[in-house]
Amino acid sequence: MDASAIDLSGQVALVTGGGGGIGRAIALCMADMGANIAIIENIPERCEETAARIRERGREVLTFPHNVMDSGKVAEAVAETGDRFGRLDILVNNAGGVSRRWFKDLQEKNWRRHIDLNLVSNLAATSAAIPIMVAGGRGGSIINVTSIEGSRAAPGYAVYAACKAGVNNLTRTLALELADDGIRVNAIAPDYTETPGTRGNVTGPVDESKWYKPGPSGQASIRSRIPAGRCGIDEECGMAAVFLASKMASYVTGIVMPVDGGSWASSGWVRNSAMDNWILPPETTD
Ligand SMILES: NC(=O)c1ccc[n+]([C@@H]2O[C@H](COP(=O)([O-])OP(=O)(O)OC[C@H]3O[C@@H](n4cnc5c(N)ncnc54)[C@H](O)[C@@H]3O)[C@@H](O)[C@H]2O)c1
Repeated sequence: MDASAIDLSGQVALVTGGGGGIGRAIALCMADMGANIAIIENIPERCEETAARIRERGREVLTFPHNVMDSGKVAEAVAETGDRFGRLDILVNNAGGVSRRWFKDLQEKNWRRHIDLNLVSNLAATSAAIPIMVAGGRGGSIINVTSIEGSRAAPGYAVYAACKAGVNNLTRTLALELADDGIRVNAIAPDYTETPGTRGNVTGPVDESKWYKPGPSGQASIRSRIPAGRCGIDEECGMAAVFLASKMASYVTGIVMPVDGGSWASSGWVRNSAMDNWILPPETTD
């Protein structure tokens, strides 16, 4: 195999929510592999910090401090990226988020917000990116950051789970619709991954010194239910996204790839309290 298959030199990637967490890791990993980067990120300090890291890697970067729930601004940012770089090869629809509440306690404004953030923003960016990729004549790669919650029931996250399930099937459907244009469409589906969002750092710059750290029982719970025995690290999604964007995945389209330490495979099996066996809870002794 030619090792250059993973090289993204000269390509342009736009990452939504690229200022923190999984999106930032994807942006940095793609920059490491040679891509120039555009990010849409609504916290300005995160735009600046990520842009500085991308420049340190010798890549060019554009930042758009926009809210991805503003479809017009998303379309403008995608178009400007295509104009300024003269191409758009990779779109990563990553921005998303959730707060946990029972569906019966939500009002329409709550679930519309979830849908705008987790589904409509993806449609807006994808719709704006396709004509640029098609006009470029080089094909492209669209990568959606979905979630394990898009493939299983998720009590307390009903609307989020519905959006992510929608993203999963959008991924498969667009893979077919765009195949003749050479545009591959795939998704990565993380489980619990250490990010500012999951560590309570949801405003201001990314600051790991302020992150919530799970205590012994939190760590035991993670070890119990994630086969890898630990949370995911944002860069692990970054590396998976590089694979999907690169020639390494030239024959891969329409997949939803778990990046979850085996959670999806475990499908209800957890480690027992002694952590020496797998059980389907509740644990019994007789
Ligand atoms: N971290 C996890 O455990 C996990 C698990 C499964 C799926 N995911 C998915 O991964 C994606 C990224 O999650 P994360 O944990 O890295 O999140 P995060 O909150 O740590 O980072 C998201 C980044 O996007 C930005 N952002 C959020 N809302 C935005 C908006 N409206 N407009 C522009 N920028 C916005 C945030 O400021 C932040 O920098 C999401 O789609 C999420 O659903 C995460």
